[in-house]
Amino acid sequence: MNGSFMQSNVKLVQFAVHGDSRGSLIALECEKEVPFCVRRTYYIYGTQPWTPRGFHAHRNLKQLLIAVSGSVNIHCEFGGVKQEFLLDSPDKGLLIEGLVWREMHDFSEGAVLLVLASEHYSEEDYIRDYEVFKQEDQA
Ligand code: TYD
Repeated sequence: MNGSFMQSNVKLVQFAVHGDSRGSLIALECEKEVPFCVRRTYYIYGTQPWTPRGFHAHRNLKQLLIAVSGSVNIHCEFGGVKQEFLLDSPDKGLLIEGLVWREMHDFSEGAVLLVLASEHYSEEDYIRDYEVFKQEDQA
């Protein structure tokens, strides 16, 4: 697998902030800042710092992850490479597409992780077995 394809599977993006003395506002539009049509949104909160989540990959899903409050460490693996991305500001997003094993670690107190997704929820799209992921990742 070549470097540029691997690069495109996970990408940290910086959003434009409309800020003034009243505070900050970030606008995300489909097919602009969000490079897909959003069919589903969910958010994760009430987490514990010592309790990680995720531990799966998707076969056909694009996602944009944003820590709208607090911080979380996203561990990704694809093409045999492991990478960590710290989401610690609402003006950062992590775009994930393609076959990527993802884990969410070290949720801060009060963290809220917003996820925009390209498809409706489908359990069939999940790979929850790491060994199955490794086999498909190497195929
Ligand atoms: P789960 O996949 O365990 O969450 P995480 O990826 O954070 O480890 O999902 C928790 C529960 O929520 C599980 O019963 C499936 C359900 N769920 C939905 O119903 N819709 C969704 O969009 C998602 C992401 C999960």
